[in-house]
Amino acid sequence: MRSRLRTIKLPPELWGRYVLPLGEEKMSDELSSYIGEKGLVIECCCGKGEFLVEEALKYPDKHFLGIDYAYPVVQRAVKRAHQHGLDNIRFLHATMEKAFSLIPRTGQLERIYINFSDPWPKKRHWKRRVVQQETLRLIHNVMEEETVLYIVTDHPGYKEWIRDQLDQASSLLRPVEEEWAVENLDEFHESDYMMKGLARGYTITFFLARRADTPRRNN
Ligand SMILES: C[S@@+](CC[C@H](N)C(=O)[O-])C[C@H]1O[C@@H](n2cnc3c(N)ncnc32)[C@H](O)[C@@H]1O
Repeated sequence: MRSRLRTIKLPPELWGRYVLPLGEEKMSDELSSYIGEKGLVIECCCGKGEFLVEEALKYPDKHFLGIDYAYPVVQRAVKRAHQHGLDNIRFLHATMEKAFSLIPRTGQLERIYINFSDPWPKKRHWKRRVVQQETLRLIHNVMEEETVLYIVTDHPGYKEWIRDQLDQASSLLRPVEEEWAVENLDEFHESDYMMKGLARGYTITFFLARRADTPRRNN
């Protein structure tokens, strides 16, 4: 679902400060130096940055990178980061697939989130869902032994799809707990999408994964 949001007026210097160039054949120097920073947390499909800005405020010594392909939502994420005076957050205006095809393992990646990515309920649109074998493979390429991948959804059909995609990727990823899904995560920051789902009575499912080749003692 493409964003129907309008663009907002945002000073170009703010965009330049918070949005890193991705690069074409190889990653830009700016991105390369940012993702080498300690304690990196990435959110794919970060939308207006509600979740990631809260995390950046909560953990000032970590570095946060939000990825979204919709220009108006990245503008709003930048505005939000600036309003909070944050310097430990940056954004990529790109598809997550393109971003992960350029980002290498950095040794610093602690967490990756895919929160409430579009469920694309109609069968003919399922191929647009971002949780797919190819994306899981790209994400696995950047994960460290310590990295936890969080995939969060409130959509019943998409939940089953995600579980099935994770099962199919079990040579690459394993559950953090006994099962892929956990019922609750403490202190998960709310976003508009999360609140809309809760207001409709939806339950939220959190899928947590690590690299399959990591020992269980890490949990
Ligand atoms: C339903 S919104 C959720 C936003 C946010 N994660 C939240 O919880 O509020 C999904 C977001 O994913 C973005 N998106 C969809 N497909 C994408 C892709 N392939 N790469 C990057 N962003 C994508 C959309 O632009 C949109 O902002």
